[in-house]
Amino acid sequence: MKFPEGFVWGAASSGPQSEGNFNKIHQNVFDYWYATEPGEFFQGVGPDLTSNFYNDYPNDLQLMKKAGIKALRLSIQWSRLIQDFETGTVNQAGADFYRRLFATMKATGIEPYVTLFHFDMPADLQHQYGGWQSKHVVSLFEKYAKEAFKLYGNQINHWFTFNEPKVILDGQYLYQFHYPKIVDGPSAVQVAFNINLASAKAIAAFHQINTNVGATIGMILNLTPAYAASEKPCDKEAARIAELWTNDLFLQPAIRGTFPSSLVDLLKSDHVLWNATGAELDLIANNQIDELGVNYYHPFRVEAPDVSPKSLQDWMPDIYFKEYQMPGRIENVDRGWEIYPKALYDIAISIKERFGNIPWFVSENGMGVSREDRFMDDYGMVHDDYRIDFMHDHLVELFRGIKAGSNCHGYFAWTAIDNWSWKNAYRNRYGLIRNNIHTQEKTLKKSAYWFNQLSHQNILPPTNFKLP
Ligand code: BG6
Repeated sequence: MKFPEGFVWGAASSGPQSEGNFNKIHQNVFDYWYATEPGEFFQGVGPDLTSNFYNDYPNDLQLMKKAGIKALRLSIQWSRLIQDFETGTVNQAGADFYRRLFATMKATGIEPYVTLFHFDMPADLQHQYGGWQSKHVVSLFEKYAKEAFKLYGNQINHWFTFNEPKVILDGQYLYQFHYPKIVDGPSAVQVAFNINLASAKAIAAFHQINTNVGATIGMILNLTPAYAASEKPCDKEAARIAELWTNDLFLQPAIRGTFPSSLVDLLKSDHVLWNATGAELDLIANNQIDELGVNYYHPFRVEAPDVSPKSLQDWMPDIYFKEYQMPGRIENVDRGWEIYPKALYDIAISIKERFGNIPWFVSENGMGVSREDRFMDDYGMVHDDYRIDFMHDHLVELFRGIKAGSNCHGYFAWTAIDNWSWKNAYRNRYGLIRNNIHTQEKTLKKSAYWFNQLSHQNILPPTNFKLP
């Protein structure tokens, strides 16, 4: 299986999960949450040090190079770059750090793909205004984005406004796995709109400011194709609505500039539709992404809910669908996620057929496994054949999608070096490179050698790959 010429082999990460809090002047919501409730995090490990990328990046980048990583997706932390959120004044130390980092990446031959927001709302903006519930925060995000474009426009060719907006809704406003752990369906609806608006505003600003010919701007969406548990009409209807809510709510505005009309009708008849002005809708209509990043980990199987959505109950999106655990599924038990590579083919075809075959890439895919020292040899190398199998099987499906004409131009593993997974901290390790978090010693896993061969040959190595 030879991938198309120029196919990008990369890895993804984020600022809050890798940098550590060195020289940061503001807390983001995770810093604040850890400071107030450290027991919420696996083994009490917080975001202070993470993988020490702030200090270690020159060495880390060299190691990544050895793993064949030619592009690295990372994020700027709003809480590091901006001194005064209201005015958008830059914090010089933060600005210098990212400039040095991007320059070192270029010198190392690793192309930066930069995301502006990866779950890390500044804590002050969450507390003062309610974070993404507030349109004032949307305008502050626009100011931050403008500063980033001005500062790094000549260094960056691939910008992304948001990482996984859906997870922001789920974590902060629906299912309580991110601070402030609110459960409020109608607020989640408004947040969904506000994030789409913030993304469009940043795109508009990019078009005004950017002078780097060829630079693009996109969005990173976690797509979880919704599959009905059965052929029963009620399960299929549940899957239809789940698909609209989980995927199309962000895909359609980002790519076509409109919201799915049947979802809008449903929210309207439930009296929970977002507040939006005509000018805001026009802005969204006129500012689309150039490329799409797709994070794919697992499918979303659904069945009809236990009680009718007409029952007297607080509005939540899942009054329309219930998650279904398919018996006999293959699962990454450590993370509780079904492993279903075929969904990547389905995503490829859906982008081709429903979303104009926009240029896209897999911006995250990977497997988080706990206690990886189980698989370590006497020399300290983790033999993570399960990760190789996982990536291999997903790439087979991706390849099928590309052969069928889908416009996919890259694959980024989550992640390069084991990093901090939010509430799960260092429980599940995703890296091609192991991090001993007690010593910060970083070593290549077997999958790093496999990925290196893949990246250099542009051909899928076998799963029974032997170490060189
Ligand atoms: C994606 C995120 O949701 O998946 C990452 O963009 C995250 O930030 C990754 O770390 C893996 O998920 P988790 O919850 O196991 O860390």
